This record gives sequence, C-alpha cells and structure tokens, in this order.
Amino acid sequence: MAGIYIHIPFCVQRCHYCDFFSSTSLDLRKQFVNACLKEIELRADYLDGKESDTIYLGGGTPSLLDADSLDLILNKLYKHLNISSKTEITIEANPDDLSSEVLANMKSLGFNRISLGIQSFRDIDLLFMNRRHTADQAINSIRLAEKSGFQNISVDLIYGLDALSDKAWMKNLMLLKDFHVNHLSAYHLTIEPETVFGRWHKAGKIQEMKEGKSLNQYNTLRELSAELGFEHYEISNFAKNKKYSRHNTKYWKGEWYLGIGPSAHSFNGKSRHWNPSDLQQYIDGYLTDCLITKQEDISEIDRRNELIMTRLRTKWGIKQADWETLNHKQSWGEFVVQCQKYLISKDMILKNNMLSISVDSWFRADGIIADLFSIE
Ligand SMILES: C[S@@+](CC[C@H](N)C(=O)[O-])C[C@H]1O[C@@H](n2cnc3c(N)ncnc32)[C@H](O)[C@@H]1O
Ligand code: SF4
Repeated sequence: MAGIYIHIPFCVQRCHYCDFFSSTSLDLRKQFVNACLKEIELRADYLDGKESDTIYLGGGTPSLLDADSLDLILNKLYKHLNISSKTEITIEANPDDLSSEVLANMKSLGFNRISLGIQSFRDIDLLFMNRRHTADQAINSIRLAEKSGFQNISVDLIYGLDALSDKAWMKNLMLLKDFHVNHLSAYHLTIEPETVFGRWHKAGKIQEMKEGKSLNQYNTLRELSAELGFEHYEISNFAKNKKYSRHNTKYWKGEWYLGIGPSAHSFNGKSRHWNPSDLQQYIDGYLTDCLITKQEDISEIDRRNELIMTRLRTKWGIKQADWETLNHKQSWGEFVVQCQKYLISKDMILKNNMLSISVDSWFRADGIIADLFSIE
C-alpha cells in the first residue's frame, strides 16, 4: 500500500523554531489550490496504480484552507488515484483555526484523523515560540475535536526549550490524561539556523538545553507517556492501542508515497522526486501544465543508509530479509559485525533476525545511525 502527502504551504505567522517550507502570503491560496489540482492530475501515474491507504495533509497549515478547497483536493485524489476504502485521512491543524463548524466540515469531508499543533499548554512557551494561540485555545481545540467525533486525535508537543523546567514539562505531559488523545508526537527542540531561534542562538540570546537536562526530559517523556498508556514506537512518536500514524510509518518502513505541493518529496522504490521550495515557481509551473518535479535515482549505498536511518528510529528495526532484498554490497553478517560494539554495549539488540536500537538508547540514536552509515 502507498501513501499520499499534500503540503499546504501557508502560515499566518512563522513560529520562531520552524524551518518547514511555508509562506505568509495567504492571498495565494486559491492559485495554490488550482496548481495542486493540476499536479495531482499530471502526476497521478507516479504510484503506478498502487492502492493508497493514507492521505496526509500537512504543512504549513492545512487548517487555513476552507472546506471547498479541501473538498476539491480530496475529490481530485479520489478521481485520479487508486484510494482504498479504509484510508487514514489526516489533517494537521492549528488550535486557533478550529471551531465546531470547521471540525464538522472536516469530518464530513472524510478526514478521520486530526493532528493538533499544541506544542505547549503554557502561555509563556507559546509566546516565546511565536505561536498564534493561547494555552486555553490549545485545550479547547482538543475538547472540540473530541466533541466533533474524531476518534483519532494526535497532538504535537515540544520539549527541550531552555526555559522549560522539568516540572513544567511533566505538567504539560500529565495534562494529556484529561483527553481522548491516542497519539503523541513529542519533539525535542532543534535550533535550525534559518529561523529566528537560529539567529538568536548565533547572537548568544538563547542557548541549547544542556545534554543532561535534555536526557532528563526525554526520560520523563518515556516514563509519563507509558504511565498514560502510550507505546513508544518511534523516537518522537507514541501511540495508544497501536494507533500508530499509518502515514508516517510508510516513511519509516520505506514504502511508496506521492508528495504533492511545494517542497513535497515522493518515493517509488527506485527514485526520489521533490518539488522546489518556492510557492510562486510551483504555482507558475503547474498552472502552465509543466512538470517541475526534480528527480534523483537512489544508489545502492543510499538505499542502505536510508534503511538504517529510517528503520533504526523505530521499534520495528531492520529485518534480515529486508536488508537482503536491498541487494547491496554488504551482507547481513557483515552488517551485524559492524554493529557488534553497539550489541556489546546493549545500545542495539539482535533478536529473531532483526537488528534494532534498544529503546533506552533512542536518545543517542542519531549518533549510532551516523556511525553506521560508513561501510568498514
Ligand atoms: C511542520 S509542523 C506543522 C504543524 C502545524 N503547522 C502546527 O504548527 O501545528 C509539524 C511539527 O513539527 C514540530 N517542529 C517543527 N519544527 C521544529 C523544531 N525546530 N524543533 C522541534 N519541533 C519542531 C512541531 O511540533 C510542529 O507541530
Ligand atoms: S510550526 Fe506550523 S504554524 Fe509554525 S511555522 Fe511551522 S508550519 Fe507554520
């Protein structure tokens, strides 16, 4: 099964930490939707007729599109692609865009999963990050999503902000027990260079959280999320009752996906395609019927490294059979030998012909993964 991602590249204001592609020129929304409809038509054969069982509208801010635009996009997908009747259809939403009416529209259009960008339940953090909603609006948005009948509600939280005390982080997490939220994405703050935080960091106005404190907050996240009934299944993702994000799991498991919209990436097993991170170029290109997607074939070594990078971030790890079907130059046995030092230190586990990073060591996963990239 394949997946479909649509990037909605608009934000009312940019958050100080975020370097995802988006524009604040909201008046370009209509033109964007038209270009997006055209792209769906032009690239419909990308998945080669494969059935898709996930559609994910991410951003930017998909909740800035009106119901008519969302309807047009979904209809176009159903018309031109092979969509399963059991599709997980997710929309990312910012809390202050939501009302009972907006949520009812989303539900009636077929969205059956909503991902809410809460980030923090504390006004002081929200102001610091330049979020446009308050803590009360964050809480209210979850209540409204519950009342509107969404059974699959995911929330995003950010930790590792230097000003976020351990106690405040615990409080943020414990608030989740009051809601019917069955998925949590909790991201440690990354200070990206091309953001306001990046500039403040360079000027010495803010600093990164010290590693010991970061680790503490990560451990708090693991303990409290488990107490609340969440299973930790990917470095930053937690699910109740196996309600994993079906769409994101496709990225981690190397399945096919079609990405529509500026900056969106696509993958069909053999090559990777991506659209430019430029809204005007995207609009001009597709409104004149041009394919503007760039392409890169994936070498054997890239496939090997991608498998390591995506699978080792999850509880599913790398299976010997998957490794071998990749048909690259390093045998499974040689790879196991390469992982030996991490197996001895118990940072990695080899069980039932599967290699994974032990959950206790996920905090160090990026370093382990980078080390395994080179073939010895
Ligand atoms: C691209 S955003 C889209 C969601 C939506 N626009 C919103 O703001 O709620 C997806 C999530 O990535 C996380 N994120 C983005 N940049 C980050 C950063 N630099 N550090 C940590 N988390 C980040 C945030 O939690 C955000 O909700
Ligand atoms: S976090 Fe969401 S709202 Fe904020 S800038 Fe990024 S995409 Fe836009």
